[in-house]
Amino acid sequence: MENIQKLIPKDAQTVLVFFVNGKKITEPAPDPEWTLLWYLRRKLRLTGTKYGCGEGGCGACTVMLSQYNARDDKIKHIAVNACLTPVCAMHGLAVTTVEGIGSSQEKLHAVQERIAKSHGSQCGFCTPGIVMSMYALLRNKTKIQEKDIESAFQGNLCRCTGYRPIIEGFKTFVEAWETQYANGNKGNSCVMGEECCRNMKTNEAKSMLYDKSSFQPYDPTQEPIFPPELKINTTYQKEYLYFKGESVLWLRPQNLHDVLSIKKYYPHSKIVGGNSEIGVEMKFKKITYPILLSPSLITEMNFCSVTNKGVEIGSSTTLTEIAKFLRDVVTKNPGRFNIFEAITDMLHWFAGNQVRNVASLAGNIITASPISDLNPILMASNAVLNVYSMDKGQRQVVMNESFFKGYRRTVIEDQEILMSIEIPFTKESQFFKAYKQAKRKEDDISIVTAAFNITLKENSNVVEEATLCYGGMGPTTKCATKTSKAMQYLSWNQNMLNVVFENLLQEFDLDISVPGGMAEYRKSLCLSLFFRFYVDVFSKIQKYNGTTMPSQYLSAATEESTLSWKSSQYFEITDNNRKVSDSVGKPVPHMSAFKQACGEALYCDDIPHFEDELFLTLVFSTKTHAEIVSIDASKALSVPGVVAFLSALDLEDNRNKLGPIFKDEEIFASKVVTSRSCVVGAVIAKSESAARKGKDLVSVIYNALHPVIVTIEDAIAHKSYFSSPRVLKKGDVVDVFKNTKPNRIIGGHVRSGAQEHFYLETMSAFAIRREDELEIISSTQNPAEIGHLASQALGISNNKVVSKVKRLGGGFGGKETRATILAIPVAIASYKLKKPVRAILDRDEDMQATGYRHPCLIKYQATFDNDGRITAAKFEIYANAGNSMDISCSMMERIVMHLDNCYFIPNIDVEGYLCKTNMPSNTAFRGFGGPQAMFAAETLIRDVAAALGKDYEEIADLNLYREGHLTHFNQCLTYCTISRCWKECIESSNYWKRKKSVEEFNKCNRWKKKGISMLPTKYGISFQGDLLMQGGALVLIYTDGSVLISIGGIEMGQGLFTKMIQVASRVLEVDINKIHISEMATNTIPNSSPTAASMSSDIYGMAVVDACTTLTKRLEPYRIKNPTGTWEDWVMSAYLDRVHLSATGFYVAPKIEYNPETNTGNLFEYFTYGAACSEVLVDCLTGDHTVLRTDIVMDLGESLNPAIDIGQIEGAFTQGYGYYTIEEMVFSPTGELLSRGPGAYKIPGFSDIPKTFNVSLLKGAPNPRAVYSSKAVGEPPLFLAASVFFAIKEAIRSARVDAGVSREFTLDTPATCARIRMACEDEITKQVKPTITRNGKPWNVVA
Ligand SMILES: Cc1cc2nc3c(=O)[nH]c(=O)nc-3n(C[C@H](O)[C@H](O)[C@H](O)COP(=O)(O)OP(=O)(O)OC[C@H]3O[C@@H](n4cnc5c(N)ncnc54)[C@H](O)[C@@H]3O)c2cc1C
Ligand code: FES
Ligand code: FES
Repeated sequence: MENIQKLIPKDAQTVLVFFVNGKKITEPAPDPEWTLLWYLRRKLRLTGTKYGCGEGGCGACTVMLSQYNARDDKIKHIAVNACLTPVCAMHGLAVTTVEGIGSSQEKLHAVQERIAKSHGSQCGFCTPGIVMSMYALLRNKTKIQEKDIESAFQGNLCRCTGYRPIIEGFKTFVEAWETQYANGNKGNSCVMGEECCRNMKTNEAKSMLYDKSSFQPYDPTQEPIFPPELKINTTYQKEYLYFKGESVLWLRPQNLHDVLSIKKYYPHSKIVGGNSEIGVEMKFKKITYPILLSPSLITEMNFCSVTNKGVEIGSSTTLTEIAKFLRDVVTKNPGRFNIFEAITDMLHWFAGNQVRNVASLAGNIITASPISDLNPILMASNAVLNVYSMDKGQRQVVMNESFFKGYRRTVIEDQEILMSIEIPFTKESQFFKAYKQAKRKEDDISIVTAAFNITLKENSNVVEEATLCYGGMGPTTKCATKTSKAMQYLSWNQNMLNVVFENLLQEFDLDISVPGGMAEYRKSLCLSLFFRFYVDVFSKIQKYNGTTMPSQYLSAATEESTLSWKSSQYFEITDNNRKVSDSVGKPVPHMSAFKQACGEALYCDDIPHFEDELFLTLVFSTKTHAEIVSIDASKALSVPGVVAFLSALDLEDNRNKLGPIFKDEEIFASKVVTSRSCVVGAVIAKSESAARKGKDLVSVIYNALHPVIVTIEDAIAHKSYFSSPRVLKKGDVVDVFKNTKPNRIIGGHVRSGAQEHFYLETMSAFAIRREDELEIISSTQNPAEIGHLASQALGISNNKVVSKVKRLGGGFGGKETRATILAIPVAIASYKLKKPVRAILDRDEDMQATGYRHPCLIKYQATFDNDGRITAAKFEIYANAGNSMDISCSMMERIVMHLDNCYFIPNIDVEGYLCKTNMPSNTAFRGFGGPQAMFAAETLIRDVAAALGKDYEEIADLNLYREGHLTHFNQCLTYCTISRCWKECIESSNYWKRKKSVEEFNKCNRWKKKGISMLPTKYGISFQGDLLMQGGALVLIYTDGSVLISIGGIEMGQGLFTKMIQVASRVLEVDINKIHISEMATNTIPNSSPTAASMSSDIYGMAVVDACTTLTKRLEPYRIKNPTGTWEDWVMSAYLDRVHLSATGFYVAPKIEYNPETNTGNLFEYFTYGAACSEVLVDCLTGDHTVLRTDIVMDLGESLNPAIDIGQIEGAFTQGYGYYTIEEMVFSPTGELLSRGPGAYKIPGFSDIPKTFNVSLLKGAPNPRAVYSSKAVGEPPLFLAASVFFAIKEAIRSARVDAGVSREFTLDTPATCARIRMACEDEITKQVKPTITRNGKPWNVVA
């Protein structure tokens, strides 16, 4: 390495210079291992840019890069993921972060204002990234269309909002709206056009969630200017760079010769394109590349040109530039460009915008991933690669079946660099198509990709030449050589299709242990994608075939058209002569939304750094079930910067305990690990990188223990359960079953998988010791519990520990109990080492260790009468609880109580088993067992309808609860609005008419099917235990009239603080702008319950009312004395009179009377009801689906804030949609999580939400049992997403009828594309079954 100096020019630049938000940054010692994200957050303390995953999959870290191009005197702006961008690549560039475009104190940027006002920011953790994606789009394009918004957000995720409000808000930037807005207010026309309130009925105008006319116009001329120095001083873009870090060297040679000479002497040096592959390898595979070569100055690698044979593309050209270039070529010369069209089409589905903006074609080729999207196209088109090396000069390599030598290996040698790629034109009689199938349509790696290239003999249907290439069917991109050969000289007909299928099956014979799993699905895709191509070509050459294809079959080839988003929200604002200041019931934006949109909102890891602070990393078990033989941390402790290692040896046994109900977990595993989530120890260091390096060096010797129980089925086989089953009985089930004819009995089971919370902010914690006191700030939904457990672990009293939460970047139940695994070690470390200690889990650690929604198996049987009325039901529930109890017993209680969904079941027997397995401890997740249970009830009702040959809607309606009915836990239903929701939903969705048109559509289409389905929901509101149903508030009034509230609940995006401020505004009769909630801290509100169970608004709302009422009474004399005075006058007078201007409030919910022994008494405070209708379009060949429309009607009483509540409905629905369809946790048979980040685990993205999404709140349905007649909303709507699942099932049923197979079938959740495709049984799926088992072990299992 020392000799490398000889190859570097003496005057090479060693200082990194770039601009951030207009400010010049000069970094004398840049380390190539630093990412831009790390640099912004840790060095520049710009914490607006967030860490969500570190692998380019969530967009939370999006920033804008700007570069001046002297050649055409233009500035290019692109959105990129800061987490994958090496800071060394920033030399001479301008970086803009969310802080650089606007501020809530000075001036908001229009993008920030519109996302906040349109309610597009809930927890706000995704918001800066989304703002920057939109901002970069606006900077790059003067006139944007809706489709630009669609592709700009392909790389951004939000877990809270359900995306609809973000899209709505940003649609106002679309050319037509913005132009009208900017110019429209001349003359009489209103800028709102048709949406002008003058064109609306009074009710409609009231029913708007925000007023678009309050948006400031977007004026591109006001944008910050590009740093003039970067324009004037062009040397930045010409210099040879030489940045030497701790273990990596960053070189930016100036010409090809320099690159080749480094490659010659250092063949393992790596060329860095977009770093989207290298960055991930360095972070997650812990690979270090000692020399990184940036090719950005090499003109021979950065160009695009048209040649006489086709096009030639420089290897480092970014995918965005390639797409633009090819689109231009195609537009200018239509006709011979099938291959180019295939590439541009494919690039639309390739990664997200941020990755495409930097990733190169060479990076894709050289990575040689078997699931590359572009390699099959390049191979099928016989692309030619121009490769150079110092010794061999130039050589041309054809990308054919010999190009890939093995898994991630190509024929290109280490000394060589790939210079350019030549892609040919297509001939007249040539047909070329490429297809990609992934779990999620956008920003997802492929399961299978295919590119098909055929040439027919002129004026005939005879194949002259064929090349079929596939990705995802083996360890490399593969050419189906045998099949391609067999097609030669065959006519394009059924016979040829049979030959192709037969050969493909022989060439691609995957077995169940194949990496990536889904062997049968992948084989069926291999055939199905070709079938799609076959139909496409057939339809184009019908004249040579002599026959035509039935029109229904053409649906195999039709591409899904992009539909624009539409939505509506209906709600009521009750006026009742209220005061102006009273904001209860108004759609007030989230109180932190503006700060969130500006990146000013602080989350745990944004807390300013202390000089001497330390960083902690957890060492997790690498075994699923094992005895710990020894732990050796000596190597870790020798890493420079590592200061301590903590393990069970540092705690007395009685202090080494965790667990919310039963203390059945250890802070640090002492003798045995029962899951890979067990924490073996913690490494504490002066820097994050030292701590992470140290953690990998801790050596633990294990002795494997048996059995290893992963799945529910394993647990059943080993009878491995926590405690005895929860049993509930009502009536005489045995007798009813005995007296029912067999044809009036149905039975079956439902199986649902785990769901990851995927809150955008991963678990984090910070603790600081002062004297003998400790302050802990952590990402928890239960700060009181953190304080309590920390005091226990440290042996100090609770009053010395203050536990705080300002806000969370999402929780969804995942941070209710599991936050302890990080926060308690951080507390211990800080207290013991007397230093501030910080920690944040990487996304993969968080996903592996913090538990999921419980996977469930529910077996059911039911009897019914001739009309379909249920007479009795039996349920057996098995829930995978993981390795500790956590709060699984409460979750089981909720499952048991929601097995009825909305249906009256007079006789019932339930047995619920909590399976003890070696999985991470499963925990609370929005819905808390309800979604699994209600899913069983809905399946049961559908089975009854099927058994009687009746419509589901009829049987559902017949069994729906009515006012006064007793539930199976004997609670009498009062104010029961299920029927109202159900009927309104049928009406508003135009259900019957659309059901007919779905049937019509299905008759005309064999390979695309529609399905439509309704369902109701009922969700019980209470904690199921008296203890937690209490809450406190503290309200302080200052002499300037400002009000500060503290409550025991935390803000995690659900709008709790906003609602509490609204409640206080009503009682105090003061404007919301004078009221503030800063944070939750245990030194203001002690012993609070977790913010969970959707209960917080109810509990804390009443506590706030209580405190505010006390204060109102104290101020009353001053109002009376000075009736024309202001709030400030009264407060000041009271102060001068020495009146106490703070008050506590407390609320104790009415006692729960339920007695589990006798199954009597009321269990829930009340119920939240709703109904939904969804329509889907299913692609029967691939299993893809699109949600065409969803209509929801929910009874939320008199909503405290319709904007927040509708946001909760849409967000919960979208999360539920993920749960029932695309979100699949993949585990190895030994219990290792294989889907550890957004790359492998797909939550819904922007394009997955219903194309039409209508939500309405039931009017005239006040709830007498909660604050201001409102109702809890957080969890209840989630189950409504099952309507999509059942609509998919209907669509599959139609396909099965066409294929002549049984209408009835089992479909587990999630209904992934693989499950949907395999349920659409047909001639293709028949051919791929059964999968041969070679070594008997599947690649993955369902936990
Ligand atoms: C979030 C995310 C989503 C993704 N989605 C997709 C997807 O949908 N489809 C898909 O196919 N891939 C996807 N990828 C993978 C990856 O982005 C692509 O393979 C991309 O094309 C890599 O390009 P790069 O320039 O970033 O490569 P880099 O990471 O810079 O380099 C990758 C490899 O190529 C080598 N290399 C780069 N340029 C040259 C050259 N000129 N000569 C010789 N070697 C060179 C490097 O040395 C390195 O070995 C995704 C990755 C991420 C992080
Ligand atoms: S943190 Fe960069 S994309 Fe997720
Ligand atoms: S608001 Fe988008 S992740 Fe919370």
